[in-house]
Amino acid sequence: MDINGNYNRPVKVADGIFWIGVYEPEANLHCNAYLLVEGEHALIIDGGSRPDFANIMMKILQAGVQPQKIAGLIYQHYDPDLCGSLSNYIDLCDNKDLKIYSKASNNMFLRYYFEKSHHAKLTDIGVSNYELDFYGRRLKFIKTPYTHAAGSFVTFDELTGTLFTSDLFGSFSQKWRLFEEFNDGCLTCNEYGNCPNHVDYCPLPDLISFHQHVMPCNKSLSYSMGLLEKLPVKIIAPQHGSVYNKKRDIAFLISLLKDLKEVGMDAIA
Ligand SMILES: [Fe+2]
Ligand SMILES: [Fe+2]
Repeated sequence: MDINGNYNRPVKVADGIFWIGVYEPEANLHCNAYLLVEGEHALIIDGGSRPDFANIMMKILQAGVQPQKIAGLIYQHYDPDLCGSLSNYIDLCDNKDLKIYSKASNNMFLRYYFEKSHHAKLTDIGVSNYELDFYGRRLKFIKTPYTHAAGSFVTFDELTGTLFTSDLFGSFSQKWRLFEEFNDGCLTCNEYGNCPNHVDYCPLPDLISFHQHVMPCNKSLSYSMGLLEKLPVKIIAPQHGSVYNKKRDIAFLISLLKDLKEVGMDAIA
């Protein structure tokens, strides 16, 4: 158990939203899956890898959600660290109406995660104008092309201001905790390796390094941040790294990533 939560249980992030990821003290790439509950019904966002499935499903059950009540799975791009257990969900949910929500350009890859004979249907979020009314709860999907996949998108829950960002705002997190925040001095600090506040662990070098390695170029990262800075975001919930729920920290991170250099190909060319 960490100081900011018991990671063997689902952790509440906002009203009706739970972290159901996997904490591995030895790993430096933590995968965060999220559960969104509205009444009796549930959605899973970036549901996780195949090896993590048992752990994640245990947390779904601990949150009081029966697998049959999972109405949909949202996949914000098509990597195995978030989609690997897709067929496990289909089998265990045993729900003939189970929807798999993603973008058409992801769906052409997502279909290889499960047998064609399976009942689940891939749903293109573009058909519903990039919105989903989930039993009265409105989700907006925002296209964030090439950060990092061509079809990458993020999901905004209007009720709580939670933005599920997939790999954006992710981190290699050599020291991880679910909720992260910055001190006053962090917002103007340039000495990440020599912290003037003498904090035990500065999350910024790992977060910066993650974006420089995972995102394809400065331009695509800056473009996505330009879109996200216009949203009334209260909570950033990424698929790796930590959750940020201070408005000031969120604005700081968006600004930092918008201007980040030496991202992907730009560090080579
Ligand atoms: Fe990814
Ligand atoms: Fe990822």
